[in-house]
Amino acid sequence: FARPWTFVRGMSRVDDLPPVAGTVEVAFAGRSNVGKSSLINALTGQGGLARTSNTPGRTQELNLFKPERDSGVFLVDMPGYGYAEAPKEKVDVWNRLIRDYLRGRPNLRRVFVLIDGRHGLKKNDEEVLDLLDKAAVSYQVVLTKADKLKPGGIAKLAAETLERIRKRPAAHPEVLTTSSEKGAGIDELRAAIAALIG
Ligand code: GTP
Ligand code: MG
Repeated sequence: FARPWTFVRGMSRVDDLPPVAGTVEVAFAGRSNVGKSSLINALTGQGGLARTSNTPGRTQELNLFKPERDSGVFLVDMPGYGYAEAPKEKVDVWNRLIRDYLRGRPNLRRVFVLIDGRHGLKKNDEEVLDLLDKAAVSYQVVLTKADKLKPGGIAKLAAETLERIRKRPAAHPEVLTTSSEKGAGIDELRAAIAALIG
């Protein structure tokens, strides 16, 4: 996790992504506003790296970040899904981009699927997990915004969530809990990513 990390660029089509040869990617997926971009900032320790917002629908492209001194590793911030108030044409474009990327990226080592600790797994999250299982893409569930709940509440949700995904073939058998705001769970997630990207 050598700093500093830099923004590469945003891509609105998978065809615009860099060639996969000799590279690895780790992606962050989840419903709009779940905290994907904030988590990338917390992991890299660079507050302004990924753009965040109170309003859902902030990230609208695949945004790639790489360590300044390494050309082969990318963190991928994704548009969110499930933002019902966005114009249908936009939602369709985001959903297509998310699907195309998640099921067709050979250098994608793992997808961290973020779930808001206040809301738990929703139907559209399960649809994404279905897609990842079908495409045999390894993923791990991460509960976010743990600071918004009591410690017992987040631990209970983590256990319930693990129970619900336990039999899924591509799921990592451990659910992580994080707070980008307070830093909880960030070291653990960083270690998990470091093990993946070598
Ligand atoms: P989209 O790009 O719109 O899909 O959203 P996103 O998933 O990238 O969420 P983003 O990181 O922009 O965060 C959304 C809101 O949640 C912002 O107001 C963040 O400050 C807030 N947020 C993110 N992580 C945390 C957290 O750990 N704790 C708290 N309390 N708020 C958080
Ligand atoms: Mg975002």
